Amino acid sequence: MASKMKKLYEGKAKIIYAKSANQVVATYKDDATAFNNLKKGSIKNKGIINNSISSYLFDVLNNCNIPTHFLKKINQKSQLLKKVDIIPIEVLVRNYFAGSLSKKFGIKEGTPLADTLIEYCLKSDELGDPHISSEHILNIGLCSFDELELIDEYSLRINDILRGIFYSIGINLIDFKLEFGICKKTKEVILADEISPDTCRLWDLKTNKKLDKDRFRRDLGDVEGAYQEVLERLNIKS
Ligand code: TMP
Repeated sequence: MASKMKKLYEGKAKIIYAKSANQVVATYKDDATAFNNLKKGSIKNKGIINNSISSYLFDVLNNCNIPTHFLKKINQKSQLLKKVDIIPIEVLVRNYFAGSLSKKFGIKEGTPLADTLIEYCLKSDELGDPHISSEHILNIGLCSFDELELIDEYSLRINDILRGIFYSIGINLIDFKLEFGICKKTKEVILADEISPDTCRLWDLKTNKKLDKDRFRRDLGDVEGAYQEVLERLNIKS
C-alpha cells in the first residue's frame, strides 16, 4: 500500500508517505542508527515492534487529552498520522542521570534527579544535535514562547503518564526524547514522532537491565530480545 503513495521524507527510523492534504502514513524501518548516524545497523523486527509500542502509547496519550499526530495503526509497520511541520527541537525528559547528562556532570547512571529535568537539542544531524537553551530557541525563533510553554507542559504530563505505564510493567523510565510539530490543519502544537525503545531509556525495575537502544549503542547484545520484552510486558500484539 505504502509503495503507491508519494514518499515525502525518509528518516533514520521511518519513511513518511503523502496520504492527503492533512494526513501522512509513517512506515517503521528495522534500520538502527546511533551517535547521529555514525553507527549504522539493523535490529530484526524493530519496525514491527516499535510501531506496535508507539501506536499503543500514543493511543493512551490521545485518551489522556494530550494532542498527538497519531490517528491509527494501519498494519504491522505503518500508522496513519496527522500531517505536521516538525519543530526542529528534540525535547529530552529525564528522571535519572544517564547518557549525555551523566557524562556532562560525571555522575553515575541511575542516580535520581531531584526533579524532572527537561533539556533541548537542535534537530540537526550535520551539527550533531547540539544541546540548546530555551533562550536559544526563542531568540532564533525555532518556536514561539507560547509554543515552548505548551511543549514543556505536555512533556511533563507525558512523563507522568509514561512513568505510570512502565512502572506497572516493572520498568523504570529513566529518560526519553520527544518531538513536537505544528498540525497542518489546526496550526496547534501536537506531539509527533514516536515513543519506543529507540527513544527511551527503559531499565528493568529489579535488575536495572537495559531494555532499550543503549543495547545497540553500547554493543550489549540481544537488542531484539529487549525490544520484544517491552512489547510483551505491555501485553500488546504486534
Ligand atoms: P542522551 O542521554 O544521549 O542525551 O539521550 C537522552 C534520551 O533521549 C535517551 O532516552 C535517548 C534519547 N535520544 C533519542 O531518542 N535520540 C537522540 O538523537 C538522542 C541524542 C537521544
